[in-house]
Amino acid sequence: METTENLTEEYKKLIEKKLDEFIPVKYPEKIWESMRYSVLAGGKRLRPIMTLEACRVLSGTYEQALPAACAIEMLHSQSLIHDDLPCMDNDDYRRGKPTNHKVFGESTAVLAGDALLSYAPQIILQKTPKTVSSQTLLRVIEEFVVAAGAEKLIAGQVVDIDSEGKQISKETLNFIHDNKTAALFKLSLRTGAILAGADEEKIQCLTRYAEKLGLAFQIMDDILDVTSTLEELGKTPGKDEKEGKVTYISFYGLEESKKQVSFLCKEACDILDNNNIDSKVLKSIAKSINERVNN
Ligand code: IPE
Ligand code: IPE
Ligand code: MG
Ligand code: MG
Ligand code: MG
Repeated sequence: METTENLTEEYKKLIEKKLDEFIPVKYPEKIWESMRYSVLAGGKRLRPIMTLEACRVLSGTYEQALPAACAIEMLHSQSLIHDDLPCMDNDDYRRGKPTNHKVFGESTAVLAGDALLSYAPQIILQKTPKTVSSQTLLRVIEEFVVAAGAEKLIAGQVVDIDSEGKQISKETLNFIHDNKTAALFKLSLRTGAILAGADEEKIQCLTRYAEKLGLAFQIMDDILDVTSTLEELGKTPGKDEKEGKVTYISFYGLEESKKQVSFLCKEACDILDNNNIDSKVLKSIAKSINERVNN
């Protein structure tokens, strides 16, 4: 039987291979090379792994979900290229390499992000197997554009930037985390479930799992910004305090934030157990988030 690590590795390899294939170098080379530089820089690939696993565990096939999973990773990479710009978080390192704008310049970095944002749904439409119905495809595209836009990811990023150096409420902090981070987790799980043809109840369960896990993930990211190193993170630590970000740590302190991560990861796993979603991969993701901050 396939072990959890094997399956996760298998997914990761497939995703790397397809991302490479989906983003060739065309004219003008500069933009494609800039897109490839960030997308193929080797992130954890957590979001597309979750998409493939959600599809598999709800009786779909990974082929159905592979183009959409890669598209979600392109969207995530886009959000990172723009997040790192001098006018945003002003970061010099990402995924262990200089940030996109450091290598290609700001104008190309902005355009590479723009290009990925529209190329991602293009890939879903052009590469999803024809066995997937047009109705399902339309729903996947709607989920994608809503999550990427001003109602979700952008909303979170706007309030994040606007809140720098300010005192904000718990509700506002949760709004930021829910939209800038959990929205893409929800998109990842929901897309896999929708492509598997799952019923609304199962889609809802995975949405709730993603909400808990997405929040835990951003709290973990905030914790590691305080406790980790450039080598471990592949990005500069200590940036949140420097930029005056309101984070779980600045709000609740380190120890309480770690407790929150444990609590949320447990809640996420309970949702799977209570709804007979038997996914060792999804559980191991929750476990690894908890272990990264609590060991
Ligand atoms: C970074 O995401 C952005 C956040 C939401 C905190 P990841 O930590 O998943 O980044 P990669 O994809 O592994 O580089
Ligand atoms: C999440 O927040 C970023 C995105 C939604 C792109 P951060 O700004 O904390 O992410 P990192 O720490 O730069 O990866
Ligand atoms: Mg940011
Ligand atoms: Mg940032
Ligand atoms: Mg961060």
